[in-house]
Amino acid sequence: MNILIIGDIFGECGLNYASLVMREIKQDNSIDLCIANAENVSGGNGMSFADYNTLCDIGIDGFTMGNHTFGRKDIIKIFENESNVIRPLNYPAGTPGCGSMILHSKGKKVGIINIMGRVNLLNIDCPFRAAEAEIERLREKTDFILVDFHAEATSEKIAMGYYLDGKAACVYGTHTHVQTADETILPKGTAYITDIGMTGAIHSVLGVSKDIIIERFLTSLPQKFEHANGKAKLCGIILTIDESTNKCTAIKRLRHT
Ligand SMILES: [Fe+2]
Ligand SMILES: [Fe+2]
Repeated sequence: MNILIIGDIFGECGLNYASLVMREIKQDNSIDLCIANAENVSGGNGMSFADYNTLCDIGIDGFTMGNHTFGRKDIIKIFENESNVIRPLNYPAGTPGCGSMILHSKGKKVGIINIMGRVNLLNIDCPFRAAEAEIERLREKTDFILVDFHAEATSEKIAMGYYLDGKAACVYGTHTHVQTADETILPKGTAYITDIGMTGAIHSVLGVSKDIIIERFLTSLPQKFEHANGKAKLCGIILTIDESTNKCTAIKRLRHT
């Protein structure tokens, strides 16, 4: 089976582009299941109910989040009413939402875990111990597990890949919005990539209007972020899972413009 994973969808530009090209990408690559990181979809900060509904309508089956999870109040209602949206597992106990979910496709139970790094991000629980314990909990309930590691530091992400090697079918990075060219199958069989990239405006600074960010670097004054427009891209990965072994046999980078 083939799984499409889409990198951080940023603002209206990213949402519109994903809406435009989803059908073509899914058909061309015989996609059975599609997951996206949606932490930036609504103006760059969080996910509104309206945008959640649009993303479901265009054929995305499940969503992971990140440090912008709580950027929109709607997320609390989404967590209460929908079962296909998760936030980083290692937020403190009592935080709304769940850190993992099970999606169904082609008769398989696919476990999805979302965790967040601590280097240059929030000082939350240890992502390594949290991920390991959750994999152990989901192992018997699922056929295979995918892990979205939302983190800044390449070292933390690569270390996580090796830490979970052999335990998850794939560990992929999100958050930096810049796709890395290091996709590989690790020694014990886990597919890995440091960051799958962003879906949004090409000529932007990580999805935000470039002039605003340049001004901020020049003056150090706070600026109101606005999502960029113009020519867009969709970045992500396509995983091929061997249905007899439930292992990932191929990981392919996708950059659709
Ligand atoms: Fe992001
Ligand atoms: Fe992020």
